[in-house]
Amino acid sequence: MDHLKKCSLNPVMEPLSWMLGTWLSDPPGDGTFPTMKPFQYLEEVHISHVGQPMLNFSFNAFHPDTRKPMHRECGFIRLKPDTNKVAFISAQNTGMVEVEEGEVNGQELSIASHSIARMSFAKKPDVEQVGVRVVKNSPSTASPRRCLVERITRKFRLNSDGKLEQTVSMATTTQPMTQHLHITYKKV
Ligand code: HEM
Repeated sequence: MDHLKKCSLNPVMEPLSWMLGTWLSDPPGDGTFPTMKPFQYLEEVHISHVGQPMLNFSFNAFHPDTRKPMHRECGFIRLKPDTNKVAFISAQNTGMVEVEEGEVNGQELSIASHSIARMSFAKKPDVEQVGVRVVKNSPSTASPRRCLVERITRKFRLNSDGKLEQTVSMATTTQPMTQHLHITYKKV
């Protein structure tokens, strides 16, 4: 709706205004974890607002060769008024829904999972995982996920060259806290 595009940013969200925009991975992101071969991915990110005291986001990952959609998540980022306390609320296409909380300090946002929920059949082996079989360098014998995510941490930072950087680490029922994703985006 056009009238929503003209809204000015709610002043509460000013400390996170550096996140706003459409961002494209540059270079491709790097995926790692002890249980998998390293992989690369492309990602398009939209962070916008409609004048409410929150940002709206969507992260859409694609296979670097086939452009097949992979991991996707969308949600909201909220700031507790007059503080630097942030809540990051995300629904993921893997059936996971999470709330992360943390702080914004300058042009850096550090958050960690506060609660994680998942669909009841997320663990069944016959449920296709999101694009995970088509990843370059992914082991062809990869089996469906047998672990559950126990904790997630993320860091977003606006670098001095104007690029946005995201690092995601996770602990699962089989692995301690380890980096899973690192990616930088240029504004498009
Ligand atoms: C695997 C979680 C984002 C690509 C996994 C696994 C978990 C997980 C729990 C299985 C680990 C294991 O079996 O030990 C998450 C969470 C994310 C996220 C919580 C976001 C917060 C992404 C993104 C991509 C991605 C953005 C980009 C394409 C993959 C791939 C695998 C994987 C390729 C390997 C799958 C296989 O075993 O075949 N992820 N992931 N993930 N993830 Fe993510």
